[in-house]
Amino acid sequence: MKAYKNFFRIFVILMGFALTLWAANPSVPQEGGKQYAEVIEGNNALMQNPMNTKLYGGPEVEAIKDWGVNSPNATGWGEIFTLLQGHYFATIFAVIVILVPLAFLAHFIVVGQKKFSHGRKIKVFSRYNIIVHWCAAIPFVILCLTGLVMVFGDKLGGGGFVRFARDVHGIVTILFAIFGILMFLMWVKPALFKLYDIKWLMIMGGYLSKEKRPIPAGKFNAGQKMWFWVCTLGGFMMIISGVFMFFQFSDIETLRIMALVHNVIGFLIIALLITHIYMAVFAIEGALSSIIDGNMGEEEIAILHSYYYQEINKA
Ligand code: HEM
Ligand code: HEM
Repeated sequence: MKAYKNFFRIFVILMGFALTLWAANPSVPQEGGKQYAEVIEGNNALMQNPMNTKLYGGPEVEAIKDWGVNSPNATGWGEIFTLLQGHYFATIFAVIVILVPLAFLAHFIVVGQKKFSHGRKIKVFSRYNIIVHWCAAIPFVILCLTGLVMVFGDKLGGGGFVRFARDVHGIVTILFAIFGILMFLMWVKPALFKLYDIKWLMIMGGYLSKEKRPIPAGKFNAGQKMWFWVCTLGGFMMIISGVFMFFQFSDIETLRIMALVHNVIGFLIIALLITHIYMAVFAIEGALSSIIDGNMGEEEIAILHSYYYQEINKA
């Protein structure tokens, strides 16, 4: 208990420190509700950086919006970046946010929920596991939601709400950075891939049938392991690329690549987060309770995590 208290004390101090930094350094130059490109005249950090030889002020930024393939004056990654950022990223995010839930809705209707007996329960997650999971998960969900608000900023009317989402996105990154590392350390061992994970992938985890046959999986199955690596290593790459975008301390080429990376990993993260929530809340009846009280039904472990079940029984 004492360890938890100390842990939260450190956490509150860190948050206070972060908020002070934030207040001292407002992120978006703005004037009368207008942002960035319209109000700066070559005076932000990017433009002062001597590495950025080809950067423009207000009117030129407007012109860049029309860049496409083979545009005059385009340099390096500028063209591809402008094209993807201006015309494709938001559409791809929209397709993911609509199609992935629809696919799961179809699964729910056609295959349905897996149900297991509510008999004996076995403790699979400790209190520490549960606290760290939620302390990483809540900031992570906020990151995805505020990220989407920024992606669809123009459709949502732009302005104060989107700027607020952007600031929340930045602050919450600090929380995820702390608890994401703790989550990585606590689950990295059971998340290492094993040969039998190939078998799990070949039968799609048994999710396409209603049959109850033991599935080849340890404490985490191959799908859960994939989610672990995407949300931790992928999450850390999001932190790094986000930090580049926030502080803008690099040359413009690196910045463009970071923004591309942030979007592409963002696709994967949003698609797998929806999958993770579907699996936890809908695909298996009662699965959610394991990450609330730490217990999982014996039959569920015996079928869905059959190698883990053998391990527990040997011990
Ligand atoms: C908000 C909705 C969420 C719900 C309902 C939820 C629920 C769950 C449940 C029930 C488990 C245990 C799975 C099992 O072993 O059967 C779990 C595990 C896990 N959760 Fe979440 N979670 C949520 C969000 C997140 C987020 C945002 C992250 C990313 C930081 C995350 C990361 C993980 C990881 C890495 C595991 C262990 C590996 C796995 O089971 O996939 N969860 N979660
Ligand atoms: C682990 C997940 C994530 C982390 C740690 C993260 C972190 C960051 C950070 C630190 C920034 C710079 C903040 C700023 O400029 O004010 C940023 C910017 C941004 N993020 Fe994320 N992010 C994550 C997920 C996402 C997702 C899923 C999306 C899209 C759906 C997204 C979209 C954006 C966008 C559009 C920006 C640019 C904002 C700007 O114009 O400065 N992020 N992110």
